[in-house]
Amino acid sequence: MNPLYNVNFSEAQLAWREKAHEIAVKYLLPQSMQHDKAESFNEDAFQAAADAGMLGVWIPKEYGGSDDGILGLALMVEEFSKADPAFGVAFAVNALGSLPIIVGGTHEQKAKYLPLVAQGKAACAFALSEKFAGSDAGGLSVRGTKEGDTWTICGEKKWTTNGSRANIITCFAVTDPESRSRRISAFIIEDTDPGFSIKKLEDKMGIRSVPVCETVFDGVKVGDDRLIGGKPGLGFKHSMMTLDLARPGVAAQAVGTAAGALELATTYATRRKQFGQTIAGFQMIQAMLADMAQQTEAARTLVHTCAAMADQRAPNVTKIAAMAKCFATDVAVKVATDAVQVFGGYGFMEDYPIAKYYRDSKILQIYEGTNQVQRMVIARNLIKEASRHDYLNSVIPTETQESYGAEPVTANV
Ligand code: CAA
Repeated sequence: MNPLYNVNFSEAQLAWREKAHEIAVKYLLPQSMQHDKAESFNEDAFQAAADAGMLGVWIPKEYGGSDDGILGLALMVEEFSKADPAFGVAFAVNALGSLPIIVGGTHEQKAKYLPLVAQGKAACAFALSEKFAGSDAGGLSVRGTKEGDTWTICGEKKWTTNGSRANIITCFAVTDPESRSRRISAFIIEDTDPGFSIKKLEDKMGIRSVPVCETVFDGVKVGDDRLIGGKPGLGFKHSMMTLDLARPGVAAQAVGTAAGALELATTYATRRKQFGQTIAGFQMIQAMLADMAQQTEAARTLVHTCAAMADQRAPNVTKIAAMAKCFATDVAVKVATDAVQVFGGYGFMEDYPIAKYYRDSKILQIYEGTNQVQRMVIARNLIKEASRHDYLNSVIPTETQESYGAEPVTANV
């Protein structure tokens, strides 16, 4: 039987959600379109979130956070993203960038860096992807070489979200090119480290108010104290463990994006009149709104379950995190597309914010692992599970299976 997990929202988590809603109403709704046009970061909203202690929600108490988990993070990110999907990722990427330290760092690394993140004194970025290594995260070329006690990091990263604002960059580099499973190590890079720079700010279709950059590591020199976990070769595992915990955040961003687009479309449908009545009176519009609402609600429930499972250290978070990310982000794109349709000609223009939701939604299916990668991860896990259980054997005797041409399940993968 599949294990079941309770989803209980603590009072603290609900209070974070309330606070995120307040910030969204005060700083995101009135400013998001201007920031999108100017490609400027919403510093007011970020500062308000930092002042409220929201950057410590996923950080353990002993390192200055409130330890309200991935579920606490998901609740805040949904509220932010509902008002401005771009700010949702700008906020969530601080979790992504600090999670490698949480999952793999030494006590000293956690004690040095996590309180700064929790207090909003250091913004984070996660530098994994490269020009020639996107989905194939193991195929990196940025190199980390050691001479004496010093590591030298050389190479370029691509699509580093928040790169130009970050003070702490968790950077993944090849330290043992000959090894298959211990090829990569993760390093903590500070923005003031000589040799670190920003090469190019990307010109993007959506999330335009969030800087996404090429980051350059031109002979950045660090000691073992910056090698996450203190030992080389753990970087790929740490990156995957990080993504397992960060993908629920992208999924929450998707739920917020869908919820925001749905609310705009529903409100517009009750205002816009054609053929002498509001378009909300037409059954075809009603069916669209009803489908959008069902999909959004289903995604929200999956995201909450996934986040609660992550916080309860469920054994196979990888699979549910991939499901939540894939399902919720497909929903966001579908709902945002249908919301544009409800707005008709106005939806195609930038007069209303709905076009921005449509533009902002697309990246959700791409970053933190494309939805093709998520489906691959889900399928790999299903296949692994199927090879472990004897469901078929308990229904049909093994000899009969053999006569049908099927190998009976015996393997232990
Ligand atoms: N937890 C722990 N370990 C894991 C793991 C997990 N979830 N997944 C894999 N591993 C381990 C495996 O056990 C294996 O270990 P051994 O070598 O000891 O056996 C090792 O890692 C290699 O695993 P795979 O053989 O499964 O690796 P793969 O090369 O086939 O790749 C992949 C797997 C799932 C495709 C992975 O490369 C992947 O997730 N790619 C997508 C990358 C991605 O999400 N990038 C996003 C960048 S961040 C971003 O987008 C942020 C932003 O801008 C906001």
